[in-house]
Amino acid sequence: MIAPKALREKLTAPRALVEVGAALYGAPLAGSTTAWIAHLEAHDDDTLRAVLQRARHDGARRVAYGGPPGNYLVSGVETSETELAAWLVSRGFSPVSSHVDLIVATGACASYDDVSRLTGDGAGVCAWFEAHFASAWAMEAARAHGHHGVFVARSAEGELFGAACHSGNNAHAGTFGPIGVLPDARGTGLGRRLAETVLADLAARGHTTARVPWVDGATARFYRSFGSVLREETRVMYGLDLDEGA
Ligand SMILES: CC(C)(COP(=O)(O)OP(=O)(O)OC[C@H]1O[C@@H](n2cnc3c(N)ncnc32)[C@H](O)[C@@H]1OP(=O)(O)O)[C@@H](O)C(=O)NCCC(=O)NCCS
Repeated sequence: MIAPKALREKLTAPRALVEVGAALYGAPLAGSTTAWIAHLEAHDDDTLRAVLQRARHDGARRVAYGGPPGNYLVSGVETSETELAAWLVSRGFSPVSSHVDLIVATGACASYDDVSRLTGDGAGVCAWFEAHFASAWAMEAARAHGHHGVFVARSAEGELFGAACHSGNNAHAGTFGPIGVLPDARGTGLGRRLAETVLADLAARGHTTARVPWVDGATARFYRSFGSVLREETRVMYGLDLDEGA
């Protein structure tokens, strides 16, 4: 059961999902043939059938469980969710990739003067994320800006060279991300100052912890270098090829 507040966010643009029975479903975006299951309870075969039918109708060749990036409820199946994992596998899904979600403490994080909250129009920062990082990050930045959760670093001339956000997904849960620093500006501590400022803002809003989702093994070192990581959840993305599937 998804809490009403969380569900409202998932059903809202950008990257709005739809309810298919008891599942939350994301149709393939233009140019993609992957459909997404953002939520589905184990053993709900009727709903799974309806989702796969809908995905085929939408032209999908593949269905992913977890995500979609840009508007996810969970980033994947946690390794402790063995019943869900076994059910997915028994229905033809297989593990595709794994990553970690970090649960970090926000309390000891500081704010920095060279990082400021984005005010006014958010279109420029979204375009910057799209151009330099990923279109899903642009969607998340747009939603984060709606929560006044985007922080930026600019040169004296006003050129944007780093940005970090919170509340771009699952705002009620204190979710970090996305974060990006342009290659020429990396390695000088800017990423840390951006991330800390974002976490400090979450702390000021009453979130004692934040979730940093979808982190790969190498990047986890970045967060550990300044933050207090309380827990690491290993999460797995599952995929089903519709040509082969149930
Ligand atoms: C991750 C990123 C924001 C870091 O920005 P940065 O300004 O280079 O980071 P900092 O200079 O503040 O580095 C802080 C620490 O993290 C380490 N670190 C930085 N980037 C790292 C990475 N990609 N992997 C592992 N460690 C990293 C640094 O070595 C430094 O450690 P130290 O204090 O022990 O020297 C930047 O590399 C980036 O934009 N990467 C591409 C986008 C991305 O991966 N975003 C995160 C998705 S979860």
